[in-house]
Amino acid sequence: MAVIADRCPDIEVHVVDLNSERIAAWNDPDLARLPIYEPGLDTIVARARGRNLNFSTDVDRCIEKADMVFLSVNTPTKQRGIGAGKASDLRWIEACARQVARNAKGHTIVVEKSTLPVRTAETIKTILNSTQERGKSFSVLSNPEFLAEGTAIKDLEYPDRVLIGGEEEHAIEELKSIYERWVEPAKILETNLWSSELSKLTANALLAQRVSSINSIAALCESTGANVREVAEAVGRDHRIGEKFLKSGPGFGGSCFQKDILNLVYLCRSFGLEEVATYWEQVIDLNTWQQRRISRLITEKLFNTLAGKKIAILGFAFKANTNDTRESPAIRIAKDLIEEGAILSIHDPKVKIDQIRAELGEKLKNDLGEWEFAGSIKDACNNADACILITEWKEYSTINWMEISESMRKPAWLFDTRCIVDSNLARKSGLNVWILGEG
Ligand code: UGA
Repeated sequence: MAVIADRCPDIEVHVVDLNSERIAAWNDPDLARLPIYEPGLDTIVARARGRNLNFSTDVDRCIEKADMVFLSVNTPTKQRGIGAGKASDLRWIEACARQVARNAKGHTIVVEKSTLPVRTAETIKTILNSTQERGKSFSVLSNPEFLAEGTAIKDLEYPDRVLIGGEEEHAIEELKSIYERWVEPAKILETNLWSSELSKLTANALLAQRVSSINSIAALCESTGANVREVAEAVGRDHRIGEKFLKSGPGFGGSCFQKDILNLVYLCRSFGLEEVATYWEQVIDLNTWQQRRISRLITEKLFNTLAGKKIAILGFAFKANTNDTRESPAIRIAKDLIEEGAILSIHDPKVKIDQIRAELGEKLKNDLGEWEFAGSIKDACNNADACILITEWKEYSTINWMEISESMRKPAWLFDTRCIVDSNLARKSGLNVWILGEG
């Protein structure tokens, strides 16, 4: 919405939320305190906020005034009831649709921005059209978002494509006219509602599948003496395969891949497509296995006992350039190591201690292991038996291993799950080095 406001100064954009603390943070004059860390976002907010970009909790009034409403609430995996652990929880989408139905005036275009199971537009339409008030009418469009965290602004400003699913030509044209201010028309695709909804799930499933595929080959490389980065480059040069999304790592994280595949699997099962469901489920199984195999391998290298050993965790975000920790591979790996009795010292340049606490729970001061927050890489590694690099933050690729190695307890290990350190330098410093996917 910030990018739309920035690109279209004549359009008034109101971002509304029930959470007043969050809205207050979006209005904070100190841009370093915006609730999301995303490179470039602060500059855009600074330019548009107060001009045509507003943040408020006045949901009803803003709906009343709006010609177009984007539904952008979260749709996490359902925790209980039918489809628990797989289907998306649509309670917030439904609540939004009801609120829009109550408060809208005249004709309103309602755009699904959240990632939703196929045919959710039907539910939204039914709720909207159940209002009998005269003079009120609605069009529903699907306009899934393909940005990735960490590169969101660039992805929005120079998208590969914009997808608009819908049936009513006038509504499609209205939404298209917004994107056309900065996206060339050939990149704006129109489909029916269901294709649009399904394309979003399929795109994420295919991206995650590539990560699981290369991670499976990384394990084989370790057993055979091949090097997964060399293999990835060799296969990626084939333009039919392409070089993107072939970086092996500790498994994919983030709020989307796992949730969307689980959702896809649930959809397939509900349509009786068992083989298709099992096929996609494997992408998640392999991802979980990859994370588990890393924590198992670390335990083995440290003489099969972690009790009382200090281990540095470098990086807690699910990828670099974000402070998002949802489904981060660091969580599963950290929990496994704590379970083995390790004392973790966790460093991340952007993730705050509260966030880690929310994922790992309170510091466990018992013989089951514990964790602490480290203010610097040096503090995290001081006296540690091992250092595990989990997020590919740039500053981790230039660590002075000579200096770090001196402060660690020998024999000391470096486990690089992102293949970003200079392994020769690290080895020269006296560390035992394990690099993911290197035989
Ligand atoms: C992903 C998609 O890339 C976006 O197109 C989509 O819009 C978004 O989900 C969403 O549905 O909202 P995001 O989760 O922000 O974006 O991040 P990605 O760059 O896709 O990375 C996902 C995970 O895969 C990260 O943990 C990353 O480290 C891992 N990954 C990615 C790899 O391990 N190797 C790679 O080569 C690429």
